[in-house]
This record gives sequence, structure tokens and C-alpha cells, in this order.
Amino acid sequence: MDHKQLKHFPEDFLWGSASAAYQVEGAWQTDGKGASVWDDFVRIPGKTFEGTNGDVAVDHYHRFKEDVALMKEQGLKTYRFSVAWTRIFPEGRGKVNQAGLDFYLALIDELLAAGIEPMVTLYHWDLPKALQEAYGGWESREIIADFNNYATVLFEAFHGKVKYWVSLNEQNIFTSLGYLLAVHPPGVTDPKRMYQVNHIANLANATVINTFHELAIPGKIGPSFAYSPNYPINSDPKNILAAENAEDLMAHYWLDVYLWGEYPKAAFTYLQEQGIAPTIEEGDLDLLRSAKPDFLGINYYQTSTNAFNPLDGVGAGKMNTTGKKGSSEETGTPGMFKKVENPFVERTNWDWEIDPQGLRVALRRITSRYRIPVIITENGLGEYDQLTADKQVHDQYRIDYLAGHVHAIKEAITDGAEVLGYCTWSFTDLLSWLNGYQKRYGFVYVDQDEKQDGTLDRIKKDSFYWYQSLIKENGQNA
Ligand code: BG6
Repeated sequence: MDHKQLKHFPEDFLWGSASAAYQVEGAWQTDGKGASVWDDFVRIPGKTFEGTNGDVAVDHYHRFKEDVALMKEQGLKTYRFSVAWTRIFPEGRGKVNQAGLDFYLALIDELLAAGIEPMVTLYHWDLPKALQEAYGGWESREIIADFNNYATVLFEAFHGKVKYWVSLNEQNIFTSLGYLLAVHPPGVTDPKRMYQVNHIANLANATVINTFHELAIPGKIGPSFAYSPNYPINSDPKNILAAENAEDLMAHYWLDVYLWGEYPKAAFTYLQEQGIAPTIEEGDLDLLRSAKPDFLGINYYQTSTNAFNPLDGVGAGKMNTTGKKGSSEETGTPGMFKKVENPFVERTNWDWEIDPQGLRVALRRITSRYRIPVIITENGLGEYDQLTADKQVHDQYRIDYLAGHVHAIKEAITDGAEVLGYCTWSFTDLLSWLNGYQKRYGFVYVDQDEKQDGTLDRIKKDSFYWYQSLIKENGQNA
């Protein structure tokens, strides 16, 4: 659709930026914090790029005031961050660690004083190690009560201060990377366990959303989903069907559950035929249907282009975690689809396809299928950045990337999508889980590297000033 004129962003549009506890905080053993599954996983040789870990990360735990001052200078309307469950409950349950709660209360107060809306993610992957050891973490239904209890503590502690809540960050990623590809904890390759874990995570997600509404916490809650809309490589009907399969198994398999409380038919049939479908107990579907998110969080980075893949076709392949362009392997789900290169788009050095229009496609599809407001909870470009001798970072490529995506949102709003906010990934540079510090996303450069001996100085990149003026004019010239 080509519009004569694009609509304006709403006056109260939430221009923001995001992070996650493990990737920024550091202070991994400070003030009574317990160990998470990531604290162990990063110590297994070969799991992360050059063995990097988040022990120090970018030391946001000690430098949050400096970081919030920079957010204020930039004019952010919202800052999305996650709470480390292990700071609140070092063992995942039991007695609250007040020092951990105090850290987040101080951060929230600092943000509010700066006129920035805090957006809290309850779970961004750093599961308490104690729960993994006690009952296998997400593999046991015991986690539902523990997660709900942890969430309730936060709902009550931040009552009236935090109005935007993200329940689970990228459930589709942490379940598949943890239980299918073994590149996240607990490092398992077992599709049957993955789909069971995912079902339990769905129940936990629905439970906390219901609790939030039952307690009448003022504000909105929703999950954040990593959505890569699927395209067919061409109009060959078997490739069209492959893209349909991919959309069903890789997107509707989560989104239909969040919004409708149902698993999509074709994807579920495929899982049943493979003998890997989850066991659904009596009452599960009622619980899933009862939970109504107030918004859908979308983390958008790229689209996926698909082609036919027979039952004996390609399966899992290696990801590019080195930044050597072209080093990722072909991947697919046999009998469903395989991912192929889209000849119409550019790729980053980590082989992520750059496709701003894909964000418009994502917003359009969500609006058509679910009619729910969206917050884009992540979008950004991970690239190498060069610090010049006079301490500047000229990241025009990041400005181009973000500007293209902001424009696509404006088009989608004009098409009819309801978008409440946009959080870039990320505010400061941070630890990229598997890719170390060389893959940078921030508006603010942080002097930290794989040797983890940087000064941790903060330096504003060119993109910092670009976003500052975009926010000032409310995306008018996007
Ligand atoms: C999302 C995550 O998957 O993408 C973030 O929510 C992550 O935590 C981001 O950092 C970018 O991914 P990566 O692998 O480039 O760090």
C-alpha cells in the first residue's frame, strides 16, 4: 500500500531503548545475588565467543545513575530492562533478598525522576541455577508457582511505579536454543523436551498474566516474542507452502497460544506425527485461553525466507557467532521448510538479514490476525564499531538501519496497526550472549572487550544524537 500521506506517531508514543540484566549489570555475586544457569553455562569451554561472560558486563549495577543520566540527555520516554530473578530470590524461591529488590527500586526511582517510564521484563533467560538443579527448571510444572511468586513480589514492590511489564522475553528463543540447538543453557538437543518445556512456559506465562489482572496492578502486561516473518523464496507453490509451514511452526505456535490459547493445527499435527508434541493435561487449555495480554511485545531483527524441505532434508546448522560474514550454515525443519538467502536484502556481518519492510509486514500480520496493540520491545543492528582517536563513533550504518525501521513503523501505523512504543536494542553496548562484546548494538559505546579489561567508559555514538532529535520531533521526519 502506497500512502498519499503518513500518519503522525501518537503524542504519547514510547520512544525507548532496552537491555537485559545479564547483559549489562555485572556484579554477578554482589549483595546476595544467587547464581543463574548462565553463570555456569558461560564457563563451559567453547560455548561463548572467546569465553566471554557477564561477570562484569558493562557494570550497569554500579553505573546505573550515569546510564540513566545519559538516557535523560537523549530524551528517552521509556527504558526496558529485566530483573535478575537471582537478585530477588538467590535460590529462586524462599526468602526475598532485600538488597536485590533495593537495587531495582533505586533504578526505577532514578528513571522516574528523569521522566522515563520503566518497562520491566520479568524473565530474560537468567533462570536461578537452584531451580534448574531442584527440578530441571522449565521442565517441571513446579516452576509455574515459583515464577508466579517471584512475579507477584515484583508486581507488589513496584506497584504504582512500573506501568509496563513484559512477562517472558523470547520464549521461542530460550526454549529452542536451550533444548533444540544446545547453544543456551541447559545445552540439550531433544525436540520432545523442548516442546514440553515450551508448554510449561506457556502455562507460567498465562499464570502471571492472570495474577497481574487479578491483583488489579495498574498498567499493562504482555510477552515479548522474537518474530521473524516468513516469506517464500518464489511463487512455486511448494515454496509458498514451506513459508506457510514456517509461519505456523515458528510464529503461530507461540502467538496463537498467547492471544487465543490454542496451538495451530498444522504445526501441532506435524509435532504429533514426529512424536514430539507436548503432553497437554486437563485444564491446561482453559488456563491458556483465560490469560489475556494487554499488548504483544515484538522483538524484530529480520525476516526469514523459505523453500521446500523434504522429510530427509536439512535440519539444524551452525550459527554465525564469530562475525565472519557468510559463516552460518543452512538450517531447516525436515518435512516443513528450510531457510534460504533472500536475494533482495543485505546482511550484517553476523548474517542477519536487514529488512525494514519486514517490520511493517510483522505489524500488519499481527494486526490482521490478533487485533492487539504492539510494543516493539527490541530492534537494532549488531555490528563492529570503531572508536576514533578523538573518541567518537561514526555509526551511520546503525542510523540507516534504525531510520528505515522507524519509517516502516510509521507506514504500519498508517496502515492501521496500533503501536504503543519502540525500544531499540540497546541503549549502551552490552554483552551479546554468544557473540562477546565485538557485536555492538548501543547508542552509547562502552569501552569493554573480550578480554574484559576495558575502562567501562561511556562514549556517545553518532546514533545517540540522531535518536535524540528523532524523539524531540516525535518521529515527524522519520
Ligand atoms: C534478542 C535478545 O534475541 O536479541 C537479546 O532478547 C539479544 O538479549 C538480542 O542480545 C540480539 O541478539 P545477539 O545474539 O546479537 O546478542
